[in-house]
Formats: sequence, C-alpha cells, structure tokens
Amino acid sequence: MAKTKSIYVCSECGTQSPQWLGRCPGCGKFGTLVEEITESAAPQKAVKRERSVSAKRPVPLSEVKEERFARVSSGIAELDTVLGGGIVPGSLVLIGGDPGIGKSTLLTEVSAHLSRTQKVLYVSAEESCSQVKMRCSRLKLDSSNLLLLNETCLEDIEEAIMDEKFVVIDSIQAVYTSELSSAAGSVGQVRECAGKLQRIAKGRGITFFIVGHVTKEGALAGPKVLEHIMDTVLYFEGEREENFKILRAYKNRFGSVQEVGVFEMTGEGIYGVSDYSGIFLSESRGEAAGSCVTPSETGNRCMMVEIQTLLAKTAYGLPRRMPLGIDYNKMVLLIAVLEKRYGLPFYNQDVYLNAMGGIRLNEPAVDLAVCAALASGFKNEPIDKDTAVFGEVGLTGEVRGVTFAEKRVNECVKMGFKRVIFPAKNFKSVKKYEDKIQLVPVQYVNQMIRRLFPEPKTN
Ligand SMILES: Nc1ncnc2c1ncn2[C@@H]1O[C@H](COP(=O)(O)OP(=O)(O)O)[C@@H](O)[C@H]1O
Ligand SMILES: [Mg+2]
Repeated sequence: MAKTKSIYVCSECGTQSPQWLGRCPGCGKFGTLVEEITESAAPQKAVKRERSVSAKRPVPLSEVKEERFARVSSGIAELDTVLGGGIVPGSLVLIGGDPGIGKSTLLTEVSAHLSRTQKVLYVSAEESCSQVKMRCSRLKLDSSNLLLLNETCLEDIEEAIMDEKFVVIDSIQAVYTSELSSAAGSVGQVRECAGKLQRIAKGRGITFFIVGHVTKEGALAGPKVLEHIMDTVLYFEGEREENFKILRAYKNRFGSVQEVGVFEMTGEGIYGVSDYSGIFLSESRGEAAGSCVTPSETGNRCMMVEIQTLLAKTAYGLPRRMPLGIDYNKMVLLIAVLEKRYGLPFYNQDVYLNAMGGIRLNEPAVDLAVCAALASGFKNEPIDKDTAVFGEVGLTGEVRGVTFAEKRVNECVKMGFKRVIFPAKNFKSVKKYEDKIQLVPVQYVNQMIRRLFPEPKTN
C-alpha cells in the first residue's frame, strides 16, 4: 500500500504548502489552508497502467440499463416525503441542524424502525452506547436488534461494518481518519471522511445517514464540501425552543427539493405532523395590533403563517431592525417602501418582526403581509382575525402577482378566513372562490392599507 502523505492546500487560491500556515502565502487570506492526502508518485503510475487495460468504453444511451430504486420506508411518513418517497438504498443522506434540534432523536427512531426488518448499525461518535440506549427507552422504541458502536476512528468503523445495509454516523464532525493529522471536525477531516464514506456506500451498497453540525453562521460545517458528496442533504429548521421543526431538502438526487416535513418535538420523541394547518397562528390573533396572516407556500405545502411586528421608539442613534424568519434586507426594503410611498415614518422606530412558530419565509409573496403587519403596528390598529394577505411588493409600491395564488386562496377558504387581500394580477385565477370568501384585489400597497384601515389617521 502506498504510504500516505499530506499537504496543506489553500481552499481559496489552491496554493500548496508542506506544513500548516495561518496565512496563505498565495492569496494572503487567513485560516484557509486545509489538509489533503497525497499519495507518493510511483504507485500512481502503476495504477494508471492497470486501469488502461480494463478501461471503460463509452456506451450508447439505448444500451444503458435503467436502475429502478426500490425505496424503503423510514417508518416516518414526513421523512419519506422529504426524501422523495422513501430511502434509496446505497445513498448518502446528510441531516444538518442546530444542536439539540432532534437529529439524533429522528435517526434513532428511523434506525429502530429499520432494525425490525434489516441489519442496522448506529455509530455514535458523540454519545456512549448507554446514552443511546437511554434515549431508546425514553422514546419507547423496540430496538433490541439495533447494533450500536461507540467509535470515532473511520478506519475502525469501516472494519466494524459487516453486512449491515443501513449505517448511521452521528456525527461526521466527531469522526476522524488516521491518514490526516488535523483534528476531527476540521474541514480537511470532514471532507476526507465524507469521501471515504461515499466510497464505502457506493462500493458496498450501504445506505448512510450522516449527522452534520451547523456553524454559527448557519452553514453546514466543512463549507459546502459535504454537500457535493452527499446524494441528499436535509436540513432541520426551527428555533430550539419551539416545538415545531421543519425538515427541508436542500439537495436531492432522487427527488424534489420542494418538499418539507413538519415535525413536533416532545419528550416521548419526534412526530411527523400531518395536520399542520394553524400551527403557525397564535391564539390571540386579531386582538393586538401589528400582526397579519399570510398563506405561505413552503415546499409544496400552503400554510397559514402569522407575521408579528413590534414597534418601539428608538432611544438614541440608529433605529434597530430585527427580523426573525424573514430576510433582513427584505424587511429594510419594505420599511423604505412604506416610508416613501405611504409616508409612515419609521426612522425613529425600532422594528422587531417575527414569523410565528420559528418558520423561515423566503418567498416574495409574504411582502404584502409584512407591509400590512408593519402598518397595523404603526397605526396601532389590529387587523381583524378573518383577513389574510399575500402578494409581492415592488419598490414603486405596486403589488405584483405571485405563483400558486389559487392554492393560497383555497387554503384561506379551508381555514375559515372571510377576506383575502391579494394582487389584482391574480384575480382571474381565483375568481371562482368569489362566493366562498371576500376577494379584495389590490394594485398598490396604498390600496391595501386603505382597505384594512378605512379611515387612515395620517390624513
Ligand atoms: N431526557 C430527556 N427528556 C426529554 N427531552 C429530552 C431528553 N433528552 C433530550 N431531550 C430533547 O430532545 C431534543 C433533541 O435532542 P437530540 O436529538 O439529541 O438533538 P441533536 O442530535 O440534534 O443535537 C433536545 O433538544 C431535548 O429537548
Ligand atoms: Mg445528537
């Protein structure tokens, strides 16, 4: 076997160095050098010559065999949905998320379910076997066949895998390969370990579930290197304190990335929530000023989400802008539109904004509801609880049409809302709901504000 050597390569400019340096001599950036394995030159040549004998030839597309994936259910319907209809054998699935969000809990449940019919190995690099057992008892899982291993060295893990078809690695940041000298969890280690796991998965047809931690900035640690290697990347969203978590697919080679799963975290385990209508609404909706409900399309599902705002007089200096669940820049932009186009002065107001239940709203269709919530907070007049609002807002103050308008109005009807304010451009597609709900098409933000608050106090 070729002796492995390692070098340090800058992840920004590719400069190589025999030892680790704090600052890259090539581009001058700090902390970008990552350890990589290099094999000595001689054996590589030998490998090349060998390969040329049995080299692969191109094949016409018509002769390529189609592989059908017999998917396996994970035992949790919501997870199956996010995976695109079940687990694909031989795939690598990465589950990312903040600490304590429920990654280990979810994978323990999946392993326990799978271990009833197949051989499953749970490699717990972070917790001891007895801790995993305690969790299994707490979750009341039937897991007598589940194999546990408390190991951090990847080479030992590889040896321990016998004929298991499912292996859980909890977590990739805690395992290391002895070929690199850097510490477990460093970018080089994470990349090398993930690459090795990929070779094992594809070579031996093993399905891997890999837990990945998230950095402070919210990215999966080992910047992007993990995502390239994985077949499926799932990511847990939601505040740790909230009971509801959203599992979203960021990348999926075997299914859509449009799907999301909604989970509820309890002391007895994590449950898929099939009836998610109303979990992102507060009980006192409609009583206090500053909140507005919008039908938001998140991963092929339409959910009614309440957006709450709080305005407080700025004590001194610059006013604060603090959105949770909505992009900061978007919030600043919508405040500017309200200031300029409708004359609502926010320059001396601290603005706090929160999407209920810890959900993240990324789509432009929530703009109008954010404006409505801000206007309601500013005027100190509540929006009645039977009104929903959706639409995109342009910088000119115009309300632009959005996708899935029909689905959104349908959700409002289903949830018992009596009035919906939406972009005039979408009127045609939702006209059929006329007798079920009061339709209020608007072209400008001004119109919406006038409809919500018939006698504006600013005039
Ligand atoms: N003994 C316990 N009783 C009740 N809830 C617990 C207990 N231990 C852990 N939990 C809950 O389970 C949650 C998920 O934990 P875990 O699955 O280990 O998270 P992760 O692996 O994502 O870091 C924790 O946030 C905690 O609230
Ligand atoms: Mg864990």
